Amino acid sequence: MENMKFERTILITGGAGFIGSHVVRLFVNKYPCCRIVNLDKLTYAGNLANLKDVENSPNYRFIKADICDFDTVCALMREMKVDGVIHLAAESHVDRSIRDPFTFARTNVLGTLSLLQAARQYWESLPERFEGKMFYHISTDEVYGALEFDGSLFTEDTKYDPHSPYSASKASSDHFVRAFHDTYGMPVIVTNCSNNYGPYQFPEKLIPLFINNIVHRRPLPVYGKGENVRDWLFVEDHARAIDLIFHRGKAAQTYNIGGFNEWKNIDLVRLLIRTTDSLLGRPEGADDDLVTFVTDRAGHDLRYAIDSTKLSSELGWRPSLQFEEGMEKTVKWYLDNAAWLDNVTSGDYMKYYEEMYEGR
Ligand code: NAD
Ligand code: TYD
Repeated sequence: MENMKFERTILITGGAGFIGSHVVRLFVNKYPCCRIVNLDKLTYAGNLANLKDVENSPNYRFIKADICDFDTVCALMREMKVDGVIHLAAESHVDRSIRDPFTFARTNVLGTLSLLQAARQYWESLPERFEGKMFYHISTDEVYGALEFDGSLFTEDTKYDPHSPYSASKASSDHFVRAFHDTYGMPVIVTNCSNNYGPYQFPEKLIPLFINNIVHRRPLPVYGKGENVRDWLFVEDHARAIDLIFHRGKAAQTYNIGGFNEWKNIDLVRLLIRTTDSLLGRPEGADDDLVTFVTDRAGHDLRYAIDSTKLSSELGWRPSLQFEEGMEKTVKWYLDNAAWLDNVTSGDYMKYYEEMYEGR
């Protein structure tokens, strides 16, 4: 009966995480005639508090499950009559991948394969087969490796050259997704996006970690000399791109998503300190001495920068925010949501944090 009410069912994996929660929120609000099913294992990075505002929406369903559990995923595809998959569930933190690569291979590679196979088996059992179906895989620019300081950009044709266990696992999953198109004719799309920032990001990643540390006047552990460069995109702009590409992108295509917004880590950290201190009413320069240069990350990629021309010229997408504006919005959100931050940093968080920076 429940299936009758909705025109389509879209399965979003990893919807309780950082980017996934923004995608779920956007789809639940924008597409009331679609049922949005959020499948998430709720690892340390998954948090249902990220979705409080949509949890009672009639077109939203949450299912706690592991994407690696093939039988559960197969049953879900059939029972929910899934028409489209937007796959974000992953282990996503490079430093954790250096300490525990197996977990990354299991979730990111085998988990993606489990979803692909379950979607294929279900869709092939239908009279219309792949007609109107889509498997959309969310990947990262890190699969392309590292750039020099020479103004070059990653395009959709850049050769894969991953360096961390995280990026190697994402690269492998991208290859499986494309293989399912080439081998079985399954409609797939892959997008490779640059670093995201914004509300609801787990405070192990640079920006929320450092905001939290500035608030508590804890050291800011900058890896190496802080000269590495990342291309930063506001998370809601990524969610808008995902919506556009899911609905209007071409099957079997890859799209790069990025903000044309490169920042050297140390410059970003200085901006973060200025913004946070100003919003906290602290005098300028009050927290400059929190910057602490620590031992570099192993295999630390020098520079990432994305060319998203294909996405803007074919589908008209543009980032909406200037970085300074997005940064102010982000810092303000973390300051206004101290309870969220306290909640996710309770439990084992400080143990992880201390171990991560021990001896650095
Ligand atoms: P995140 O770590 O915040 O969230 C990941 C989510 O996946 C969590 O809710 C977690 O519970 C869930 N999950 C993990 N293992 C699972 C499993 N086995 N089964 C079901 N659910 C599981 O990650 P994020 O930063 O939101 O990234 C989402 C996706 O976007 C990832 O695929 C990542 O590779 C990609 N990506 C991230 C960025 C970025 O800057 N954060 C940039 C480009 C691409
Ligand atoms: P991160 O947010 O982990 O994203 P990614 O490694 O996927 O780019 O890190 C962003 C940059 O900040 C990266 O160059 C590593 C650096 N970094 C630090 O200098 N100190 C830190 O404590 C963290 C977490 C990251």
